[in-house]
Amino acid sequence: MPSGVFRDISKLSFDYVPEKLLHREEQWRRLEVMFDPVAQGGYSQNVLLVGSIGTGKTVTSKRFCTELAFNARRHGRSIEWTIVNCRQRNSEASTLLKMINYFDPNFPDRGFSSQELRKVLRKHIEKRGDHCIFVLDEVDALFRSGASDLVYFLSRLPEESDTLKNKVSLILISQRHVFDMLDMSALSTFKRTNVIEFGKYTKEQLFDIISARAELALVSGTYDDEILDLIADIASEWGDARFAIEMLEKSGMLANERLGEGITTEDVRGAKAATYAFVTEERVAGLNQDQMLILLATARMLRNKAYAETSEVEKSYRIACEEHDVKPRAHTQFYSHVKDLAGLGLLDIRSKKGSVAGMTNMITMLDIPADVMSQQIEQLLRSKKSKKRR
Ligand SMILES: Nc1ncnc2c1ncn2[C@@H]1O[C@H](COP(=O)(O)OP(=O)(O)OP(=O)(O)O)[C@@H](O)[C@H]1O
Ligand SMILES: [Mg+2]
Repeated sequence: MPSGVFRDISKLSFDYVPEKLLHREEQWRRLEVMFDPVAQGGYSQNVLLVGSIGTGKTVTSKRFCTELAFNARRHGRSIEWTIVNCRQRNSEASTLLKMINYFDPNFPDRGFSSQELRKVLRKHIEKRGDHCIFVLDEVDALFRSGASDLVYFLSRLPEESDTLKNKVSLILISQRHVFDMLDMSALSTFKRTNVIEFGKYTKEQLFDIISARAELALVSGTYDDEILDLIADIASEWGDARFAIEMLEKSGMLANERLGEGITTEDVRGAKAATYAFVTEERVAGLNQDQMLILLATARMLRNKAYAETSEVEKSYRIACEEHDVKPRAHTQFYSHVKDLAGLGLLDIRSKKGSVAGMTNMITMLDIPADVMSQQIEQLLRSKKSKKRR
């Protein structure tokens, strides 16, 4: 079946792990140094990978563990590893279940308490090879749902008994620093020095990443450097490699829909518009009207600056309420919505020291440009209103 510009579209899928990672040499080296004693035997390690969306945390951990296990095997040692996405399983029991499924795919998914699941997991680790690495991806979801004790339990496992000694390592992954969420007892097992930061990619780095990916996924001659450059430029606003790869895929699809010979800059622009609309719509559509108005107010305040003070946003929120004929909420409720939006990853609250009251909260939006966000919400609010009228 002819697939137009695509040679192998699976190379653009979100779970494809490339053989070679680009521009992550520093993070890789730090992982190597930290896990060298694990590979040699007789050591456990706990590390935390942090960085914003699409900075390669998940893919780096997968590639690193794969290679570590492979090299260990060549030296006669068995290192096993598995990754659990904690956002998809944001309770202790379902996270434990996923970990147990690695050892026993037929383990029943009902009928066991967390305590029992912990015991089962412990038994599996005791029975298995030399070492197990558990990668807990998007671990902040676990902390938010109040299941941080699981991390404490796992990090303490190697000290529990001789049969578990030096047998378990943890790699935690999060978009923000989870240390603030870890309680003190868990913190003592997690050294702050064991944090590896993943910075946003620059335009040049994104260019290299999608250029390598285009070579694998696209028919040569259906794209050129100008196309890749435009995509890298658009995605560099966030430094997000996933967004760049998605845009490459979408551009290719638009070229195919046109029955074009190759991707044009117009396809890239179309892909940009479609991706923005999709990203925001999906995340915003489930919010209530108050939350939408707060998001709109924040987006307006952030058009020309990185942070806005809470009081500014509240003022802008009152104006937005007036425009939309809605009674504004009192401060406490307003702020509780702000916190909920932060919990959903749509806003971020930071403290600014030195103000009269000691602390002022600043609000920012991380991964969606402010004007795209405000346009999207205005549209949603309008369509809600017109539905009501009908
Ligand atoms: N250095 C890199 N070289 C090649 N591909 C990369 C690199 N970094 C990221 N990618 C690709 O970009 C996409 C996003 O990467 P990844 O899923 O690892 O990001 P992340 O940091 O885990 O993001 P999130 O916080 O949203 O989960 C994946 O398709 C991945 O293969
Ligand atoms: Mg990830």
